[in-house]
Amino acid sequence: MTASILDGKAIAQRLRAQFRDQVAALAARGQRPGLAVVLVGENPASQVYVRNKVAACEEAGMFSENIVLPASTDPARVIERIEALNRDPRIHGILVQLPLPRQYDEAAVLAAVSAQKDVDGFHTENVGALALGNPRFIPCTPKGVMVLLQSAGIQSRGSDAVIVGRSNIVGRPMARLLLTADATVTVCHSRTRDLASHTRRADILVAAVGRPAMITADMVKPGAVVIDVGINRLANGKLCGDVDFASVRAVASWITPVPGGVGPMTIAMLLANTIEAAQQAAEQSERFLGD
Ligand code: GUN
Repeated sequence: MTASILDGKAIAQRLRAQFRDQVAALAARGQRPGLAVVLVGENPASQVYVRNKVAACEEAGMFSENIVLPASTDPARVIERIEALNRDPRIHGILVQLPLPRQYDEAAVLAAVSAQKDVDGFHTENVGALALGNPRFIPCTPKGVMVLLQSAGIQSRGSDAVIVGRSNIVGRPMARLLLTADATVTVCHSRTRDLASHTRRADILVAAVGRPAMITADMVKPGAVVIDVGINRLANGKLCGDVDFASVRAVASWITPVPGGVGPMTIAMLLANTIEAAQQAAEQSERFLGD
């Protein structure tokens, strides 16, 4: 078997064309969707991600503000900047790029973002809503994975889904989404015993660990759907996922490439969440004016 490619790049491109129309319609209603991206420090990977996010906003016709602060910034000042963005009517979505420099209390910074503008879905209110199966803003990467699965007609219902990685950004929200979609979900992590015994049972295998090529063909059930969330930069400068693409492709039914799989979907979902936030703001202000 040679797996078909789940082409996130192509799907994201189609979505972004639709977003342009939605953005124009909202702009005509006086609510051009606006995203603020806050980057603290000089993490090179984060700099690339932020640049790509801001460029995607601009391409869709959205307003964007890019706030870059040195790692030495007093965390209280960062929280003040976020609070100003909470009040700014041009801004519908606020994203604080993670990881923050070591001295920061990440939870305190994320808690400062208004839950109504939390397009990353990291605020405890939004995490709670997702955990209860009634999501508002869904974290962009796992949301993008669900859209990829749906676009290929892959059934989550009744499937055995195995997620490798338990991060707040990917693993945990991915588990909640797949559970809500009626999969039977297993979450594996660094303390899991005999990882391969779990992964070999997966109909849908999601790798979100950050270790190049750690999922090898012998760990994959024939015919499985393999989603690679990893983006690892090798010493030679090339990008590589968490999945050993060449060998796993020979076993799986579907597989996402790196780059060009999950990454473009993450950005597309960020735009989708920001448009959703702007739509809510438009409805709220129109209700207010109609009163
Ligand atoms: N760092 C890695 N992925 C993400 C993400 O989806 N959102 C934010 N804010 N930071 C990240």
